[in-house]
Amino acid sequence: MTEKALRYLSGFGNEHATQAVPGTLPEGQNAPQRPPRGLYTEQISGTPFTAPRGHNRRSWLYRIRPSAMHPAFRRIDNCLIRSAPFDEAVPPPNRLRWDPLPFPDESTDFIEGMVTLGGNGDAGGRSGVAIHIYRATRSMERRVFYDADGELLIVPQTGRLLLATELGAMEAGPGEIAIIPRGIKFRVALIDDRVRGYICENYGALFRLPELGPIGANGLANPRDFRTPVAAFEDSDEPYEVVAKFEGNLWATEIDHSPLDVVAWHGNYAPYAYDLARFNTLGTVSFDHPDPSIFTVLTAPSDTPGTANCDFVIFPSRWLVAEHTFRPPWFHRNYMNEFMGLVHGAYDAKAEGFLPGGASLHNCMSAHGPDRATFEKATAAELKPQKIVDTLAFMFETRLVIRPTRFALETPALQHDYDACWAGFEKLFRG
Ligand SMILES: [Fe+2]
Repeated sequence: MTEKALRYLSGFGNEHATQAVPGTLPEGQNAPQRPPRGLYTEQISGTPFTAPRGHNRRSWLYRIRPSAMHPAFRRIDNCLIRSAPFDEAVPPPNRLRWDPLPFPDESTDFIEGMVTLGGNGDAGGRSGVAIHIYRATRSMERRVFYDADGELLIVPQTGRLLLATELGAMEAGPGEIAIIPRGIKFRVALIDDRVRGYICENYGALFRLPELGPIGANGLANPRDFRTPVAAFEDSDEPYEVVAKFEGNLWATEIDHSPLDVVAWHGNYAPYAYDLARFNTLGTVSFDHPDPSIFTVLTAPSDTPGTANCDFVIFPSRWLVAEHTFRPPWFHRNYMNEFMGLVHGAYDAKAEGFLPGGASLHNCMSAHGPDRATFEKATAAELKPQKIVDTLAFMFETRLVIRPTRFALETPALQHDYDACWAGFEKLFRG
């Protein structure tokens, strides 16, 4: 699979059908007695069998060898990957912010360079998320990964990735996202020398497009802009290591061929990518500041209506036109828990300290909002229409408190002076 082979099918959650070799996709049925060209038939289901039709996800794969053909997995070192329940450190109510994590000095692939900053819920209970940073300087070679604990929403910040998956190859770089569903095997190749980015590992219900309510039939992320790779396979008899994340731990086994050997597939359970520049950003055209839910790209619902296991929200370039309004987010204390990252540029609610590749965490009821410099600038600003350009911040917003890992609380990247950005607000009250 090479970059040149990249082709995509469009649409979110669509039933796709694709074959890398003509005549390899059975017609009219899923499991013929003898599949074409000596392939093996395999179904992968991403939801319970009886999930409602609108949310049911499964795909039928036609592959050179069945996935079942492997020896037992053995435990391997989890390195810096952590998983729910997150109980290795006492979660503080403090606002937390991190500098970008440095790139590793030694040669490091996508799995080796993953580090968990925090998370919530229970991986075994199918609720919550984990939030990881990845940093890699080397492609995964003869090594593939799959995550049985959740789907992976990858937000590249530096460098482009070539994601070779069982269902085809796709590219994702800064300004884009890629989603690898639970259980789908993939290998990460580096297109650029080094890569870094954020991952939301979603243990809960699959990410989907948010309801649009009164917005109507169009707007925010439009379904046609999501792209899914076409079938592409490797017919390799080289040895491969398969790494699995299962109930929070990493396991590995060896096989004598590439498991990325799906020649044809059809279904609606597949990886996908999305260019965030395609997001149709909506906002106020009168006054005041809408809640950040107006910027939701994807949502993973919980069992409670309107209470997401995780929302993926972006703050892209956009016009600000609100009249007689404090335009950045006002001070707030929220039920929901906010992990923020910055792909590039500057975020309009912070004057400095929140850097591309860095992160901040504002948990339940922890007071935050504009820093003092931003407050002073925004209250004095002439309210002409203004375009915020060259910025892309995002948020993983979750219903459960994001509990930091020990690494997150002890890394030198943690900014110990973060509280100071809210110090020194003078008493302006005139009684
Ligand atoms: Fe906030």
